[in-house]
Amino acid sequence: MKVLVTGGTGYIGSHTVVELLNRGFEVIIIDNLSNSREEVVHRIEKITGKSPLYFNIDVCNKADLKKFFSVYKVDATIHFAAFKAVGESVEKPLLYYRNNLLSLINLLELYAEFGFDNFLFSSSCSVYGQSDAQPVSESTPLKPAESPYGNTKQIGEEILRDSILARPFRGIALRYFNPAGAHSSALIGEYPLHAPNNLGPVITQTAIGKRESFTVFGNDYNTPDGTCIRDYIHVVDIATAHVDAVNRLIHKKNKKPFELYNLGTGRGYSVMEAITAFENSTGIKLKYNFGPRRPGDVEKVWADTARANSELGWKATRSLEEIMNSAWGWEKQMTRNSNKITG
Ligand code: UD1
Repeated sequence: MKVLVTGGTGYIGSHTVVELLNRGFEVIIIDNLSNSREEVVHRIEKITGKSPLYFNIDVCNKADLKKFFSVYKVDATIHFAAFKAVGESVEKPLLYYRNNLLSLINLLELYAEFGFDNFLFSSSCSVYGQSDAQPVSESTPLKPAESPYGNTKQIGEEILRDSILARPFRGIALRYFNPAGAHSSALIGEYPLHAPNNLGPVITQTAIGKRESFTVFGNDYNTPDGTCIRDYIHVVDIATAHVDAVNRLIHKKNKKPFELYNLGTGRGYSVMEAITAFENSTGIKLKYNFGPRRPGDVEKVWADTARANSELGWKATRSLEEIMNSAWGWEKQMTRNSNKITG
């Protein structure tokens, strides 16, 4: 079975490629390296002993994508390639709408043209906006997204659902909560080309001394310690859910042509609790200060995971401590390697 992974050298993409290869799938990666490095392909080979095919293609370039599909027939596609910084999307909304929506439309148009089936879309818990009650389940009504990033995920889900109803074919949208941590080999992890926005790399870069300190965005939220609450989930748990979802589609086990699943742990932690978990598991004290709220942030969100547990037969198994330890292992390895390269 051949699976196309767009954004396969990125953070969640690379971990998913590893799990797919480990479970016997053939994988083709396409990625334009806008926020990742080609070296990741070799690291995936090191972990798995298998070589995915890799092409540098921008999914927004339909002509290039069409050439690719004219040569390669795929049994399923997992579409990760997208921009993902909530704060940046507030500043540059059109960049986000163009990139995240055009890439999806291109893929779905070509999927229809070539008659392909089985499509997995990377969605996000940001589609829930600020819900009235926690945890949120897939049937919780969606509030307006708090950021253009979140809105591209809401619209993306609708585009996929409508395309599926019109043709029909099979698809699943996976709503990630807050992916964090890294592979236990410390060979792949979150590897942003630009200054990171996500809490995990911000914490580890501070711990290693790449940055002096960091800012906790807001401590006046209506939460027990005043900082935002998120459902941090180990990236390898997220990756294995993709393999389960691909299997469900390929083996036609889906109950509806378009299905939605929350991928979270079911447990919310505040920013302060995440910081404490890192400090306790590594013994390193972090330097941080409190600053204003970040535009686009929701106050709190965590997942009801019952549907993914019962239908996909999947459950997140890794703890917040494992998340922090693996992220730290990855940061140390990355820093050692870049010191070697720069001498
Ligand atoms: C959002 C989405 C998530 C998606 C991710 C992609 C929501 C609720 N979640 O995550 O599904 O996968 O975007 O990027 O929309 N923080 C600081 N200081 C920092 C960095 C972060 O205090 O320097 C805080 C944030 O304010 C937030 C928490 O840490 O409360 C997590 O932030 P981040 O890692 O950026 O992820 P989200 O924006 O929550």
